[in-house]
Amino acid sequence: MKTDNQRNAEFKNLLVTGGCGFIGSNFIRFLINNSNFSGRIINVDSLTYAGNPENLEDIAGNFSPRYIFQKADICNAGKLEAIFSQYDIDAICHFAAESHVDRSIKTPGDFIQTNIVGTFNLLEAAKSRGDQFKLFHHVSTDEVYGSLGSEGLFREDTPYRPSSPYSASKAASDHLARAYHKTFALPVTISNCSNNYGSYQFPEKLIPLIVLNALEGKQLPVYGDGKNVRDWLYVVDHCEAIWTIMQSGRIGETYNIGGNAEMENIAIVRLICDILDEIRPAADNAPRRHLITFVKDRPGHDLRYAIDFTKIKNELGWSPRESFQSGLRKTVEWYLNQNQWVENIKTGAYQTWIKEQYGS
Ligand code: NAD
Ligand code: DAU
Repeated sequence: MKTDNQRNAEFKNLLVTGGCGFIGSNFIRFLINNSNFSGRIINVDSLTYAGNPENLEDIAGNFSPRYIFQKADICNAGKLEAIFSQYDIDAICHFAAESHVDRSIKTPGDFIQTNIVGTFNLLEAAKSRGDQFKLFHHVSTDEVYGSLGSEGLFREDTPYRPSSPYSASKAASDHLARAYHKTFALPVTISNCSNNYGSYQFPEKLIPLIVLNALEGKQLPVYGDGKNVRDWLYVVDHCEAIWTIMQSGRIGETYNIGGNAEMENIAIVRLICDILDEIRPAADNAPRRHLITFVKDRPGHDLRYAIDFTKIKNELGWSPRESFQSGLRKTVEWYLNQNQWVENIKTGAYQTWIKEQYGS
């Protein structure tokens, strides 16, 4: 369903930041294989530990020069300006971020730099393009809203109450994006999404960490009592939601994106154990649930996230397609079939390759 004040945007040169990460690489693959987008994609990524060019090997090899990779740090304003003018950028989908809550507790400074200063630099670069600039889509998180109790859902008008340095830095970047729309009329849309899962997720996040640890017979660390709840969304559904907003979302608006799949962490860990026991039984046939280990809780651990996605559903007609049960099974199977990708991450070979290709 579309209303009068929505528009269909046509972008010629779309800058995707953080395209070598988990969601960014899935988004670029979605754009090329499953969308009506026909312009150029310029992927700007500084290749931190979370950025892996292997995530886009199929695309880089087959879609040049429609797909272009530029290794660059969004904290480097001068480099961004040069990329904007070299490629005549007219739209941005901004994923690049430090994304892991546990790391933000240990090294918050990186989060302030990339998530706040980097976003500011991109907004400035977009503003300097003037009228030819069509859209800045800012990809954000439901964590900006803080924690829910056992009841209720996050809506777009839920007040911001971030708990971690990660979510506080994302909240700051949302405010900047909104301010650039209000003050400078920059065409901005924002999305706040729940927990994603699927292929190419770095194995520090709950689902891939548990899959890979379980395969190796290692402990499966569950924080606190395991009763924290997240609302899980299959990554391809997230990509489709973002593209839907970029095409027909109202400028200046925020859209919440969720999976309608609330799960306690402990239930997910048990499900993964059971799927693995069924399709790849342990050598001794012992059930993987024995590996579950309750460990010290994450400081400031939010209890529950859950999204009300009525706005994007009613205005733009988007709803998640994948069920959690089938999406989780697909994801487990994907990790089982990616021996080389997993090995390159475990041994650090992907970072050695990056150094050889691009220098330090
Ligand atoms: P990720 O950590 O997998 O990928 C981040 C990417 O950004 C990496 O490729 C990294 O190299 C790049 N990057 C980091 N710092 C950079 C810098 N200074 N300059 C250029 N590139 C840089 O993250 P993800 O899980 O794919 O998340 C992508 C975006 O989606 C983030 O903005 C995150 O806040 C948001 N988000 C994630 C989730 C989730 O569940 N993963 C949910 C909602 C929103
Ligand atoms: O809600 C959206 C957010 O989801 C995104 O903005 C973040 O970028 C993304 O990392 C994710 O944040 P979480 O902190 O929810 O994801 P993570 O996979 O780290 O943890 C999921 C839940 O599992 C959380 O309650 C903490 C718990 N956990 C996590 C790890 C890594 C464990 O119990 N054990 C673990 O080893």
